[in-house]
Amino acid sequence: MVRSAFSLLSQEQEELSDWLIDVTIFTRFLPQSHISQYGTWLKSLDPSTLRAYFGIGLGPKGIDSLVRKFKKDFAHHHFLVAEKNSQWVGVIHIASYQDTVEFGVIIRKEFRRLGIADQLLGEALIWAQNRQYKKLIMHCIVENSPIRKLCQKHGLIARNVYGDIEATMNLPKSNWISVYREAIQRQANWYYYLKSFKA
Ligand SMILES: CC(C)(COP(=O)(O)OP(=O)(O)OC[C@H]1O[C@@H](n2cnc3c(N)ncnc32)[C@H](O)[C@@H]1OP(=O)(O)O)[C@@H](O)C(=O)NCCC(=O)NCCS
Repeated sequence: MVRSAFSLLSQEQEELSDWLIDVTIFTRFLPQSHISQYGTWLKSLDPSTLRAYFGIGLGPKGIDSLVRKFKKDFAHHHFLVAEKNSQWVGVIHIASYQDTVEFGVIIRKEFRRLGIADQLLGEALIWAQNRQYKKLIMHCIVENSPIRKLCQKHGLIARNVYGDIEATMNLPKSNWISVYREAIQRQANWYYYLKSFKA
């Protein structure tokens, strides 16, 4: 009797954990050897998303040349990928130079307004803070009100620069809370990532 109650409990735990994997967005940094996957993902997006992101309609050749550039200079380009059920739903690109980072974020159309850009931006901010970067910049076209609102929500100050929007903020210094938050985030993400292979 006690044994069957235990096995029922562990079955329920297993079901809960599978359900969590179904609904959880987990994130991971792309290793250098997988960078071409970013290009493949960009090519799978609709033209209006690419136009909103790059400010121009970038075709497959343009994407290939961009990816080649990232491969050559991987030390200054990082890609935090958001996945749901093993499918890429969004990516934040972190480009770094000197004490500054620039973020560019894209969420696949079907997965918008679910807080995924919020999550990626929050994690990328902590990552940059913990690596002693001092300044964050984000660029977008004037008509892009979703990203302008997102920037505002995270404390970036936007200004019009030659017809485009440049949003900036000074990053806070790292402290034990930011280091701890990053460690917890990475651990939770690894847990879901590994579990998703089992499910
Ligand atoms: C901009 C973009 C990244 C937002 O992604 P998202 O996952 O839908 O955003 P979230 O659900 O995390 O929303 C976070 C905040 O962004 C703002 N926001 C997002 N979409 C919005 C919309 N359609 N209208 C107004 N505000 C919006 C809101 O402030 C929102 O916070 P709230 O939900 O508390 O109001 C997404 O629309 C996108 O990929 N656009 C195309 C690519 C692009 O333009 N990238 C920007 C160049 S850097």
